[in-house]
Amino acid sequence: MCGIFGYIGNQKRAAAIVFEGLKTLEYRGYDSWGIAVKAGNRIEIEKRVGKIGQAKVSLPQSNLGIGHTRWATHGGVTVKNAHPHRDCSGNIALLHNGIIENYESIKSELLAKGHTFLSETDTEVAVHLIEENMKNGNTFPEAVRRAFLRFSGLNAIVVMNSNSNQIIAAKNGSPLVVGKSDSGFFLASDASGIVKFTKEIIFLKDDEMVILDDSVNLFTVSTGKNLPLSYEHVDWIIEEADRGKYPHFMIKEIFDQPKVIRNIAETYADQIDDLAEVIKVAKGTFFIGAGTAFHASLAGVYLFSKIAKEHINTAMASEFNYLEDFLTKQSLIIALSQSGETIDIVEPLTRAKQKGSSVVAIVNSLGSTIYRMADKKLLLGAGPEKAVASTKAYVAKLAVLLMLSFAMVRKTSDAQKLLLEAAGEIRRLLSDENLEKLRRLAKELKGNENIFTVGRGTSYATALEAALKIKEVSYIHTEGLAGGELKHGTIALIEKGTPCFVFAPMDETHEAILSNAMEIKARGGKIVGISPQKAEVFDHFIEVKDVGEASVITQIIPAQLLAYFLAVEKDLDPDKPRNLAKSVTVK
Ligand code: AGP
Repeated sequence: MCGIFGYIGNQKRAAAIVFEGLKTLEYRGYDSWGIAVKAGNRIEIEKRVGKIGQAKVSLPQSNLGIGHTRWATHGGVTVKNAHPHRDCSGNIALLHNGIIENYESIKSELLAKGHTFLSETDTEVAVHLIEENMKNGNTFPEAVRRAFLRFSGLNAIVVMNSNSNQIIAAKNGSPLVVGKSDSGFFLASDASGIVKFTKEIIFLKDDEMVILDDSVNLFTVSTGKNLPLSYEHVDWIIEEADRGKYPHFMIKEIFDQPKVIRNIAETYADQIDDLAEVIKVAKGTFFIGAGTAFHASLAGVYLFSKIAKEHINTAMASEFNYLEDFLTKQSLIIALSQSGETIDIVEPLTRAKQKGSSVVAIVNSLGSTIYRMADKKLLLGAGPEKAVASTKAYVAKLAVLLMLSFAMVRKTSDAQKLLLEAAGEIRRLLSDENLEKLRRLAKELKGNENIFTVGRGTSYATALEAALKIKEVSYIHTEGLAGGELKHGTIALIEKGTPCFVFAPMDETHEAILSNAMEIKARGGKIVGISPQKAEVFDHFIEVKDVGEASVITQIIPAQLLAYFLAVEKDLDPDKPRNLAKSVTVK
């Protein structure tokens, strides 16, 4: 996680430039932030706990600065643990993204040599190790290189030295980009942070380090050998997100959904037909994703079985590493991701590529790591998704997977019709009357400690996604289950009044899921039925009209809205829930 930004150049506004860059990168972590600038021969640092938001920086004028937004891994959310961290001399400051897995042994060694540590982070060992390497006669770049080589794990570090007037960065696993413009050089944890300053970008590869001073020099970390510079001109326009008339991004993004689905229905047929041909020739296709994207993958597996009569495997991306021994050159991995930066996906994709398997990216973020590493790419076109809780990127993935499963049997146009119907039904679900109904339900449920969500078939994926949405923004423990699994244990938790959301579309699961609802009700559960048809067992009924196989898209809408209203009713920030980040770049 963590956003990184650095600047060195002819502008004296380093702190302001870094601050502006960090704001774009805050989606990578927002528990605390910090900026360091060179002030004379010293380094001045300002660090704070909390979101960067409208904060003001009061650092001196400088032409060299680095900054960081943190998502805590090692050490609590405190000012001391916020980056940048300084060495004992105060002339070197460092920030970091990743986890230095062997930090404990390095720390003991450095403590024994007299270094003083001020934080509980793994990161701080890096700056003291560089200092120690310099004491042993190494130049600043060599000290950084040697230190970086000692770290295990997936890491990116950025180090500034007020004596040598340099910024040095090295990476392995975590992304880093460098940009150049007439006003100087920029460094960021991804290109979206940099494109407003420059379009000339170097995407650093693993095992590369860069030195920024009056010029840019690139090296291989492991050998120390100089590398040629290869700038890419990116002509991306990163859409700025605007909440418009909405109080939060989450509700704005829920309202964006009909447009997103319509766009996919109307303009994606050709690229989806192409992708279907790729799947047809592969020997073993896997959908992988994390969190919400995994739920979309799971729904995709059901859709492929039902519509295309094709078996597709799926795995949570973080588990795929342990399931990939059988991958071959004929295997196809389809990675689903909103951000395109999730390390749990990047890691198995890297290994799959090493084995010669093909990789397809279905992502929302142009130019992201996963987008760049894929052999074939499909952009979701949902527009920037700012709220941490993913909504429109989820339905976009479902729309693509639905179309893809129909494309496998050359019936893409059937899917297009269903998607247009689904877009219409979502618009109806977003009526004032319906919003009011869900707001009232949220008021009724906000005091509960537990909620359950159940579904079968594609609605099992919906149940998992509904539970994730509710828990991440309302902090109410919510568990999603396959309807048939309840009686195998979890039903023991149902008490009088326990809310249980039952997804009952008019498909082959309808009768069986209503029986499961009966079983819950018999034990005192309060049933919220989400279905085209009212049933006696429902205590609350939320009508979602039948749109055939596209019901997997429409059924999630009431759950997204309820999650949002629960957060609002509990006075929580639905856009930036506690402990989370929009882009998850640590393991
Ligand atoms: C969804 O609401 C999440 N906050 C989270 O589960 C997310 O879907 C997951 O981290 C994967 O992110 P990605 O789509 O950017 O890869």
